[in-house]
Amino acid sequence: MRSLDDLLRHGVKGRRVLVRSDLNVPLTKTDPPAVSDDLRVRASLPVITRLLDHGARVIVAAHLGRPEGEPDARYSLSPVADRLAQLLGRPVEFALDTVGESARLLANELGDGELLLLENVRFNPGETSKDETARGEFARCLAMLTGGEDEGGAFVEDAFGAVHRKHASVYDVAKLLPHYGGDLVRDEVSVLKALTGKPERPYVVVLGGSKVSDKLAVINSLLPKVDRLLVGGGMCFTFLAAQGHEVGDSLLEADQIETCRGFLAQNGHKIVLPTDIVVASDVSADAEPRTVAADAIPSGMKGLDIGPRTVAAFAEVLGSARTVFWNGPMGVFELAPFAAGTKGVAQAVAAVSGLSVVGGGDSAAAVRALHLDGNAFGHISTGGGASLEYLEGKTLPGVAVLEEE
Ligand code: 3PG
Repeated sequence: MRSLDDLLRHGVKGRRVLVRSDLNVPLTKTDPPAVSDDLRVRASLPVITRLLDHGARVIVAAHLGRPEGEPDARYSLSPVADRLAQLLGRPVEFALDTVGESARLLANELGDGELLLLENVRFNPGETSKDETARGEFARCLAMLTGGEDEGGAFVEDAFGAVHRKHASVYDVAKLLPHYGGDLVRDEVSVLKALTGKPERPYVVVLGGSKVSDKLAVINSLLPKVDRLLVGGGMCFTFLAAQGHEVGDSLLEADQIETCRGFLAQNGHKIVLPTDIVVASDVSADAEPRTVAADAIPSGMKGLDIGPRTVAAFAEVLGSARTVFWNGPMGVFELAPFAAGTKGVAQAVAAVSGLSVVGGGDSAAAVRALHLDGNAFGHISTGGGASLEYLEGKTLPGVAVLEEE
């Protein structure tokens, strides 16, 4: 994979460079909306800044949310353009469309060291289309914003959080322009490689989040490799049900009970399940939480967090770990009565003396929402889905295409 350094060595002054960044960030519900968590914007700055400092004319393409292939003001990247400008301390031109008149005009007018952010690429149906021709056509229009290869155009893939998507701006455009892996993609992939190569042992994985069905593939591929798998969050109830326990009104995926039973039968010695659970009748900040044994969840009650005994047990396992990967909150951490489990586990992960990796998405959001020191973790990934798919052993289209000539 050619790197950004390779591109800079060739010289970028005066060249138009298309950068795919992952700027898919949460927005406030205010009018106008603002960026409420800028981790991904900050993570995108190094590549953009390096290119601007070298005199490139930088065009950033990115998505926000999941609009349905047409403009939708709720998903505009305009608030992200404002945040980007603040963080860079430089003006950011913002195109009102993706490859239309506004984008073409602003791309043509860019001066050396100037930056243009395109509107949400998912406003164009070609971006996510399953039809290669439709995707290819949109990718061609994106590539032409740089003037194409003959006019010095180049593509830098830096959207690690989106590299598991075979989308026009992530995958197809790399086939049309000289392409380079950005620093964020390179750093994220090298951390994940350390996990899949020869991790220092004990290697402990902590999984949470609501749906066990989202994690089946990763459990399947990780179980043979890890020393311990700690399971919390909504997904633990399907495991508890597989052990024959009643789970009250907790989240349960009945159709996955058999699969969880299979995991327990094959690798039960590695799987650590909660022994106590914080329950309440409602998912609400005013709910009256109670801690009960995991095998005695009263009917009508919902399990909304792991209990203190479980946190202590998980922390003990993590205490001797040399490599840790954590993905998914342990409970409904957004509500104070159910945040202690996630906070306790996060603190135990942060205290690990070897490599600790937080696998993006909700767990990375929890680290920030609970005001934990992000620097205490070895690495906080910007890509939840992408890092899980990498650990599952899947090919990431946005990375694989960079390996092609
Ligand atoms: C993410 O938020 O995980 C990435 O930006 C990818 O977004 P997506 O799941 O909507 O493709």
